[in-house]
Order: sequence, then structure tokens, then C-alpha cells
Amino acid sequence: MDVTLPLFDRPAEPAASDPPPGRPPRGRPVHVSGYEREGQDFYATPDWVTESLLRHVRLRGPVWEPCCGDGAMAKVLVGHGYDVVASDIADRGFGQAGVDFLACQGVPRGCRSIVTNPPYGDSGSHEGQSRSPAAMRGFLSHALALTESVQGQLALLVRLQWIAGARVADVMSAAPFAAVIVLTRRIRWFDMGEKTNHGQHHHAWVVFDYERPAGQGPVMLYG
Ligand SMILES: C[S@@+](CC[C@H](N)C(=O)[O-])C[C@H]1O[C@@H](n2cnc3c(N)ncnc32)[C@H](O)[C@@H]1O
Repeated sequence: MDVTLPLFDRPAEPAASDPPPGRPPRGRPVHVSGYEREGQDFYATPDWVTESLLRHVRLRGPVWEPCCGDGAMAKVLVGHGYDVVASDIADRGFGQAGVDFLACQGVPRGCRSIVTNPPYGDSGSHEGQSRSPAAMRGFLSHALALTESVQGQLALLVRLQWIAGARVADVMSAAPFAAVIVLTRRIRWFDMGEKTNHGQHHHAWVVFDYERPAGQGPVMLYG
């Protein structure tokens, strides 16, 4: 299973002229961070959720899963024949650890699509953390900029309600919004012990495609 490393630009050995830790060096497309995060914003996505995306969307690969957690989404993508580069800011035993997506200035070499379940979406596991719609908008804007740089595709799993916000509507409308895939089943997050979320919210995939023909609006689908 090819999930990791060869496509990443590896960071060079620190040089005297390198900026201090925590500040991404200029021109380094994929930022590898020494930051080790606690497990609070981790929850694995059930396979059927990723299957719902892949039933409707043919991705241009290779695919980058930049918040891969324990690889739940990446494994489904690989099972569908995609080459996947998987990374996460934390070490969850899968993919390349220590890669801060928000500090990355480019996509791993060769990747044409980004697919993930961002860290701000759902569940009681976010207590005490930034889970604001603004944080999620920032994540979306950054992901769109990286996707545009390769004229690629972006698929993000989000709460359905989140896309109704006025400010996110502006961001999404300005982007090549290709599809929303509404999940009619509610997600039951697992592997969270006492904090397991029992599916209070509906979710959707939002899909952007920089090769979408101009003037073509997004399609709404059910997954
Ligand atoms: C909600 S979990 C999703 C895991 C996986 N995508 C899935 O669907 O099963 C979010 C993941 O994002 C990671 N994460 C949080 N902030 C990140 C960042 N700035 N860069 C990369 N990964 C990050 C967390 O460590 C966590 O594993």
C-alpha cells in the first residue's frame, strides 16, 4: 500500500540561516512540523462515508490525505485504486507524521487531489479547542489555494449546516464548487470511548474542481 513518503519534498537539514522552529521556511512546499498534538481532535471516519464520495466522484490522482489520522479515509482510497500520500500533524501510526497542513505551501509532488475530514468538524472531542466556523473557513481557503496551484480537486467532509453560513457561502461561491454530496445517514463516530458522538448532525462532502467547465454550477447529490 503506497501511502506516504516518496512524493514528499523532504525538509533539508537545518542550516544556520534557517528560520527559528515554528516558522515555515520560505519556498518549502510541504511543511514538516515537530509539533506533537494530543489526540483530542482525532476521530476516524467510517468507510461508508468515503465510499459515498467515491460513488459519485472520479478523482484525478495521486490523492493527498493531509489530516489522515489512522488512515481510515486513505485506506478506502487505496482500496479504490488511488495512489495516496497520507500525512498528519500528529503521529497516529499511519502516513507521515509532523506535517502541518496549514503551514504547507504546496501539495506533495505529483498530487492532483486533496481529500480529508478536517479537524474542526464535529464531536465532543473538540472541547477546549478551536472548532469555530472561522477556523474551518481558514482551512477551506488554504485547501482551495493549494488545490488551485495544481488545477486539482478538493473534497472535504463537513457538517451540512456549516455550508449555510453567509461567510463560507462567499468563499465557496468564489471557488469552482462542483458538487455537494449530502449524506442521508448520520455518522456515528467511533474509537472515542466515552466521548463517542452518536450522530447529532448531518454531514456532506463538498467538492471543488479547478478543471470544471466555466459557468457550470455545482450539482447536489445524495450519498
Ligand atoms: C477529524 S480527524 C480525521 C482523520 C481522518 N482524516 C479520517 O477521516 O479518519 C482530523 C485529523 O486532523 C489532524 N490535524 C489537526 N490539525 C492538523 C494540521 N494543522 N495539519 C495536519 N493535520 C492536522 C488531527 O491530528 C487528526 O488526526
